[in-house]
Amino acid sequence: MSKKKVAVIGATGIAGQHFLAALPNHPQFEIVALAASSRNAGKTYLDAIRNPSGMLGWWCEEPLDPRYAAMTVQNAAEFDATTVDLVFTAVESDAAKELEPLYAKTTPVVSTASAYRYFDDTPIFVPGVNNNHAELLKRQQAERGWKGFVTPVPNCTTTGLAMTLKPILDNFGIQGVIMTSMQAMSGAGRNGGVLGLDVLDNVIPYISGEEEKVQKETQKILGVLNGDSITPASFGVSATCTRVNVADGHTETVFVATEKPCSPEEVAKAMREFRGGLDGLYSTPDALIHVHDDPFRPQPRRDRDMGGGMTTVVGRLREEKVLGQNGIKYVLVSHNTKMGAAKGAILVAELLVRDGII
Ligand SMILES: NC(=O)c1ccc[n+]([C@@H]2O[C@H](COP(=O)([O-])OP(=O)(O)OC[C@H]3O[C@@H](n4cnc5c(N)ncnc54)[C@H](OP(=O)(O)O)[C@@H]3O)[C@@H](O)[C@H]2O)c1
Repeated sequence: MSKKKVAVIGATGIAGQHFLAALPNHPQFEIVALAASSRNAGKTYLDAIRNPSGMLGWWCEEPLDPRYAAMTVQNAAEFDATTVDLVFTAVESDAAKELEPLYAKTTPVVSTASAYRYFDDTPIFVPGVNNNHAELLKRQQAERGWKGFVTPVPNCTTTGLAMTLKPILDNFGIQGVIMTSMQAMSGAGRNGGVLGLDVLDNVIPYISGEEEKVQKETQKILGVLNGDSITPASFGVSATCTRVNVADGHTETVFVATEKPCSPEEVAKAMREFRGGLDGLYSTPDALIHVHDDPFRPQPRRDRDMGGGMTTVVGRLREEKVLGQNGIKYVLVSHNTKMGAAKGAILVAELLVRDGII
């Protein structure tokens, strides 16, 4: 089977680079175009990621494929999406608002940006959690007159939360959720990201707009598809989002009031058995959720790369009855730039190809 031709827009940024790190040997997708802002248009990719000091700004542990290093970066605003079968976008929301509808007129777009997340005709995919929300894309195409579509992945802090809440919701019901995040520096991106001197030896107790995103997105992702619209989950989600001195991997403490009683053993079993209908896809990890029994895990440095950065790692499962009659609390680690961005978007694309939507 010939591979689908894909473009990565925002290829020079942190999330964009992770697409390049993940795709060199992908059996279904082949990168044929890279684009970024007009500042880098016309440069080779290698020159585009070189800092003014001369240092190469390649952030991934995987090596940069020499084929990509030599490609010419295109101006995202002028990129012709009809030249590819699929577009991955990894640009800030303002740029995405302008660019994504241009591409979607002709071509499917899987996005890491927030620009489209809150439209009623747009799903926010967490692969394995809400696969059936893909139905909404038909409405988006019909109402907007597009041949393609825009389908965003969630904010990287929402991903691990929604993934771990899904088996709890399905087995025990949920009445309310309180979450505190300790988010990695890479989550803030390269342009205008967190200054090293601000976060070194420090914790920043506020990330603008993040808490509202996590709350709204979690309810939409765990909501029910009724015909051609989603009824958001009715339980409340309250989040406190902080930035910590960790390079990659978001840590979250989660308190869940459940409808039915649940023991830590029952929740661990439900999480371990959660497969999400993703078996057989190239980027599906062996476990979507791994549950540690060791109370000193998960830790971002030791656990973020489990399953190639695609496994949400849980530990410290304990009963929690302060919020209601029944409940559970735990700690999770989720890789923000892998499952939470590029590789998560690639898994969404694999799912949509399997289901005949791309
Ligand atoms: N970092 C994460 O963990 C993470 C996780 C999930 C989702 N996301 C989302 O992914 C997106 C990218 O985030 P990031 O962290 O990768 O940011 P980043 O490192 O700052 O990279 C931004 C990218 O967007 C490009 N860009 C900026 N303005 C543009 C414009 N007007 N037209 C075209 N391209 C433009 C930049 O190109 P130049 O190099 O030419 O400026 C660069 O390639 C954001 O929407 C973010 O919310 C990020």
